[in-house]
Amino acid sequence: MRSFATASLLLGAATHVAAQYYNQSAPFNLVLKSVNETLDGKYLTPCHSGAAIENLCVYDTPSAYPYFYNYSDTPDFTSDSGYLTWDLHGGNFVVNEPMVFSYNPSSNLALPQLQPGYGELLIAFDEDEKLYVPAYIDDSVDPIEAGESFPLYRWFACQTYYSAYRYLALSWQLGNAPPQNPTCQAVNVTRVFTETAGGY
Ligand SMILES: *[C@@H]1O[C@H](CO)[C@@H](O)[C@H](O)[C@H]1NC(C)=O
Ligand SMILES: *[C@@H]1O[C@H](CO)[C@@H](O)[C@H](O)[C@H]1NC(C)=O
Ligand SMILES: *[C@@H]1O[C@H](CO)[C@@H](O)[C@H](O)[C@H]1NC(C)=O
Ligand SMILES: *[C@@H]1O[C@H](CO)[C@@H](O)[C@H](O)[C@H]1NC(C)=O
Repeated sequence: MRSFATASLLLGAATHVAAQYYNQSAPFNLVLKSVNETLDGKYLTPCHSGAAIENLCVYDTPSAYPYFYNYSDTPDFTSDSGYLTWDLHGGNFVVNEPMVFSYNPSSNLALPQLQPGYGELLIAFDEDEKLYVPAYIDDSVDPIEAGESFPLYRWFACQTYYSAYRYLALSWQLGNAPPQNPTCQAVNVTRVFTETAGGY
């Protein structure tokens, strides 16, 4: 059973880009939890970082438009995960953008960004509404362990730089080592459902 589950998981992982994540949750805001009182209770609000690209910036107020959780329309191995999405409103268009990670080879942080395209980053919310990344591979041990899903909460609020934009924005620690960026503060990201977000 175990090896079958692992094989179908890996097959699914290889083909998940083709899967459709068209079922959407109710709209919600993203709120920080942190022992740092400056950050605790602050919102993550999309901020312009390029053409149709947004970082998730730390602000006092929520986005004019809320986030959604897009999940698979058919129950399958990904039923416990999906995409974090947000509607970018342009002059004469609306595009639903998934959150992806932007990687920087000189840093051990990935920058979560909203960008048009296919979802690539599967995320989920736990029973406390905390955002996590379900991981399937642990290469910190030998032999590498693979197949069993485990949650990672490696979120930080850091001073970021992308395409000449400097922001205090959500960041993701890659691997076990603490962020090399000295401004990083550990946070969690919680989902708070909303009916009052502007524009809806
Ligand atoms: C999310 O679901 C909505 C509603 O079905 C759909 O219009 C949108 O394209 C989906 N977004 C992604 C990134 O799959
Ligand atoms: C809390 O976070 C803010 C924003 O990143 C930072 O300026 C401040 O130094 C942090 N406070 C402490 C006590 O680390
Ligand atoms: C997706 O949405 C459709 C239409 O509302 C519903 O029939 C179906 O059960 C949903 N699938 C899941 C996995 O929730
Ligand atoms: C985030 O939440 C997880 C799961 O509850 C917890 O293990 C972790 O310590 C939290 N991190 C911070 C920075 O509060």
